[in-house]
Amino acid sequence: MDTRTQLGRLGLFDAKVPRYTSYPTAPHFAGNVDPGRFCQWIQALPEGGEISLYIHVPFCRRLCWFCACRTQGTATLSPVESYVATLEAELALLKRHLPKGIRLSRLHWGGGTPTLLTPELMRRLIAAIAEVADFAPDAEFSVEIDPNEIDEARLDVLAEGGMNRASIGVQDFDPDIQATIGREQSFEITRRAVDMIRARGVHSLNADILFGLPHQTRARITETVQKLLSFAPDRVALYGYAHVPWMAKRQQMIPSDALPTPEERLDLFETARRLFVWDGYAEIGIDHFAAPGDGLAVAQKTGKLRRNFQGYTDDTAAALIGLGASSISRFPQGFAQNASATSAHVAAIREGRFSTARGHVFTDEDRLRGRLIEALMCDFRIDAAEILRDFSLSRDALFAMLHQAEAAFKGQVQVTGEGLFVPVKARPLTRMIARSFDAYDLSKAGHSSAI
Ligand SMILES: C[S@@+](CC[C@H](N)C(=O)[O-])C[C@H]1O[C@@H](n2cnc3c(N)ncnc32)[C@H](O)[C@@H]1O
Ligand code: SF4
Repeated sequence: MDTRTQLGRLGLFDAKVPRYTSYPTAPHFAGNVDPGRFCQWIQALPEGGEISLYIHVPFCRRLCWFCACRTQGTATLSPVESYVATLEAELALLKRHLPKGIRLSRLHWGGGTPTLLTPELMRRLIAAIAEVADFAPDAEFSVEIDPNEIDEARLDVLAEGGMNRASIGVQDFDPDIQATIGREQSFEITRRAVDMIRARGVHSLNADILFGLPHQTRARITETVQKLLSFAPDRVALYGYAHVPWMAKRQQMIPSDALPTPEERLDLFETARRLFVWDGYAEIGIDHFAAPGDGLAVAQKTGKLRRNFQGYTDDTAAALIGLGASSISRFPQGFAQNASATSAHVAAIREGRFSTARGHVFTDEDRLRGRLIEALMCDFRIDAAEILRDFSLSRDALFAMLHQAEAAFKGQVQVTGEGLFVPVKARPLTRMIARSFDAYDLSKAGHSSAI
């Protein structure tokens, strides 16, 4: 039986599974994490330590049909201005609770489209963040940039403010595909954005592209990858297009009969993957590629690759604090998520409190299972010695779990005395294997296809 048939028999082409950017996944968050608990977790951070900060800007000038991100369209600047004022107030609130001497190891602006802020609003936000904490040495400041929504003036402010990693949304360069997914963006516009970013000496360029788009073929994705490679990006995220029109209503504009089948999605991924590998990129986890000197490639080699809400990271900070509507924070004790609706978030901050609406308090079992899943998603292996060193469980109990996964994915997963290993041919199954370590009931949450 060939590999593809074996993967199909194990359900790869039918399964719906989480992307495991957290464990437990966000649909399992509950209302027992409130602003009081969020404040306690902030206050418990060690003085003089490092944190990561995520700032969510939930606005876009245009709403691309394919997009499943939490964002809202705006034609005017006034909601954005008032949102930035809310972020300033939220940052001041954070400062009141944060222990002394905390520094930022990572600062990420995401969305939505953070670059729809005017230069003046960007300056205000940068100044408000600087009031809360200084950057640590070797800190990274990254910003998600829509090439349609950027210019010299805004890039000047970001570069002066310390942005050293720019992440551009590309999706696909093919004009037919762009028209079908409601995201028109000429190659020239993208190239101009890249040139402007490079001209400012921004250390690292990241790009997002998608596989599994309507009308996408091997030839078309090959052309997109080749065009992208002409920019020599430092990092690429090759995400599988998640078609979830019941959740992201805009996707109803996308004809589902033009979508590739799951088998074709695997082909598209493989085609793009090979091109990146041929070009010397390191494969990072399930969907990223990094140039050899890039932080993710180094972290992968040294076993320090981690998974967080933005995908993969080499960040070692103990806590990630998310500000803005719907942002999720991660602390050693658990997750805390802000109110999803921008209006509810803004109202809470105006009243002088955080908007924390839900979250999860880790149990010891969550920590163990979360690490097993993260190790699979990052390294395609579970190192028994590492787990037995960091968690209190017996070797027998750990190997019972590993053997269960081996039995469920017969012939694809290998268990030896050192732990569990997913060979290259079985890597498309990684999220499914991760799911076998998930103790929560996944039936109620609407996940995207396994490939
Ligand atoms: C929050 S968006 C921000 C990017 C920026 N606003 C832009 O458009 O360039 C970040 C990335 O999420 C990815 N994304 C959005 N919707 C997706 C979907 N339905 N399936 C997979 N990835 C998606 C896209 O690759 C996008 O570049
Ligand atoms: S892809 Fe970017 S610009 Fe388009 S709707 Fe999503 S966040 Fe907004």
